[in-house]
Amino acid sequence: MTESRALWLPPQGFADTLPDDYARAARLRERLSSLFASRGYAGIGTPLIEPRALFQSGPGRMPESQQWKTYAPDGSILVIRPDNTTPAVRLACSRLAHLPPPIRLHYIQTALRYPSPGATGVGGLELHQAGVEMLGETAPEADAEVIALAIEALRSAGLESFQIDIGQVGFFKGLMEEAGLAEADAERMRSLVEAKNTLGITLALRDAALPSEAERSRIASRLQTLPTLFGGIGAMNDARRMSGHPRCRAALDNLDAVYALLDSRGLSQYLSIDLGMVHAINYYTGIVFRGLTGHLGQPLLSGGRYDDLPAAMGRPMGAVGFGIELDQLLTALSRELPERGVDPVLTLAVAKGRLALEAFGRLEAAGMDCSEARNPGRKLIVEARYVGASSTRPEGSAQESPYPGGRIRLMLVKPCDVPTYVDHGVADAGVVGKDTLMEENRPLYELLDLGIGKCRLCVAGSQERSGEAAQAASYRVATKYPNIAREFFARRGQPIQIIPLGGSVELAPLAGLSDAILDIVESGGTLKANGLAVLEEICPVSARLVVNRVSLKTKTAAVRALVKALEARE
Ligand code: PRP
Repeated sequence: MTESRALWLPPQGFADTLPDDYARAARLRERLSSLFASRGYAGIGTPLIEPRALFQSGPGRMPESQQWKTYAPDGSILVIRPDNTTPAVRLACSRLAHLPPPIRLHYIQTALRYPSPGATGVGGLELHQAGVEMLGETAPEADAEVIALAIEALRSAGLESFQIDIGQVGFFKGLMEEAGLAEADAERMRSLVEAKNTLGITLALRDAALPSEAERSRIASRLQTLPTLFGGIGAMNDARRMSGHPRCRAALDNLDAVYALLDSRGLSQYLSIDLGMVHAINYYTGIVFRGLTGHLGQPLLSGGRYDDLPAAMGRPMGAVGFGIELDQLLTALSRELPERGVDPVLTLAVAKGRLALEAFGRLEAAGMDCSEARNPGRKLIVEARYVGASSTRPEGSAQESPYPGGRIRLMLVKPCDVPTYVDHGVADAGVVGKDTLMEENRPLYELLDLGIGKCRLCVAGSQERSGEAAQAASYRVATKYPNIAREFFARRGQPIQIIPLGGSVELAPLAGLSDAILDIVESGGTLKANGLAVLEEICPVSARLVVNRVSLKTKTAAVRALVKALEARE
C-alpha cells in the first residue's frame, strides 16, 4: 500500500502547490504583473517548448547538461525552455519585429533546467520566474530604469530588507585583456573570482601562461583583491586605482553613471557595488546585478545588460532585463516576519569532531568563550560569548565585541552537511574540510585556509595488485567521495565503477568489494595497518572558513571579525 502511494508523488526536484501557497503565489504574480504593466512593460507568454537551436549556440547557449529535451513526432529534438529571456528576445526579433524600439516586455512563467555544476541545491528544477526585458536602448538611463523597477518590484511584493548588488563585467574583461591571459585561463580565473576563492586563484596562476614572473604577481594581486571590491561607492575608487586600462575605465564610468541615476531617484540605500560579480560574463555585456536578502543564502533576483543576444537573432539592439525567482521571494517573505527583521547574530556551522576542537581553540585565542561548545551534551546549537582576549586586555577594562549581541551562534553538524547549512543561508559561515567542499561543490566563498585538519586526498589500494587492477575492464573504486572520484577518473579518461560507502572504506579492497579506494589519508596509519598503500596523491586538504554570498554582504563587519578571530594562532 505504502509503495503504491509513493508512485503518486511528484518526481524528485518537483513540487505540488497546496491551496494556501497557491493563493500567496497567485497574489504575488498578480501584484508584479500589474506593476510591470503599469510601467509600460507589456505582458507576453512563450511556449513551454522551444526549438533546440535557440539554446544551442550564441549568447543564449545553455549547456547540454542543463537542458531538458523532448522529441517532436518527426523525431526532431525540442527543449523545454530553460530560461525566459531568450524566448522573449526571440519574440521581439520575430513576431514583434515591427515594433519600434524601445520594446518593454514582461513575463511570469516557469523555466525548467538542471542546475549548473557547482550551483546550489536550493529550490527545485522548475523555476517560477517573473521578469522584464527592455530592448532597443543602450544608455545608462535604461539600466537605471530596469534596476529601479527591480527595487520597486521587491518592495511592492512586501520585502523590506534587501539590497541590489551592481557590477560591470567590462571591468573583469579589461583586466583579463590587460594581462593577456588565454581564454581558457581567463575563464578559470572568472570562476575562481566568482567563488571568491583566493587560494584557488593563487594556485591557478601558477599554471597560467603569462609573459613574466612580474606580470604573474601583478595579476595575482589584482585578482586576489577583486573579490574584496564590494560595498559602498568607495569600492569604485579602489577599482580605479587598480587599473587604468581603457576597457576597465569605460566599465567604471558606465557603472558610475548608472549609480548616479539611481542615487538621484533616492534609491542608493538599496545599492551596493560588487566588481567581483563575474557570473555568466560571456552572456552579459555590461551592467550586472543581483538582489540579495539576509533571509536566503542565494540571490532571489538577477539581471543585467546582454546586448549580444538580439544581435545574434538578427536584430542588433541594446537589451537589459532581470528575472525574479518567485519561490525564493516567497521563502524570503515568509522568513521576514515584521517583528523579527534580519537576525543580526552570526551563525557558524562547524564540522563536528577533531576540526571542531581546533576551531574552538582558534576562537578562544581571539577572545570567545567556547566552554558551552566544548561540552554541548546533546545540544546542537550553542553560543560562544565574546569575553575579549585576555592577553591584550588591560586589567579591569571591557572590550567592545565585534559581533552583534556580543556572541556568535555555533551549529554542530556532520562534516558533509556544513556546505548545505551555509548554502541554504541558515548558517552564515562554516568550518569544513576542503575534501567536503570539493565533493559538495556548492557556490560558497572560501575566505580562509585554517591550516588545520591537514591531510591528503589519495587513491589507495594494494601495491602489488595495482597494475593488473588498473588495467581491468571495470576498475572498482570505493569511496565516501563519489563526485570527486567521478571527476578525477573521467579527466584521466579511465572508466570506473564507483562504490559509494559511508566510512571505513579501507575495508572494501580487503573484502574484495573494490580494487581501490579514494579517501583522505592523514597519518597513513589506517592504510598501513590494512596492508594498503597510496597509489596516487590527488591534492592536499585542510579545513577552510566558508561563507555564503549573502552573509558576506549583509553581515560584512561580523564576518571580517570572524576571519580575524580564526586567523589568530594560539
Ligand atoms: C578517515 C579516513 C581514513 C582515516 C585516515 O576516516 O576516511 O579512514 O581517517 O586517517 P589516517 O591516515 O591517519 O589513518 P575517519 O576516522 O574519519 O572515519 P571513517 O572512515 O569511518 O569515515
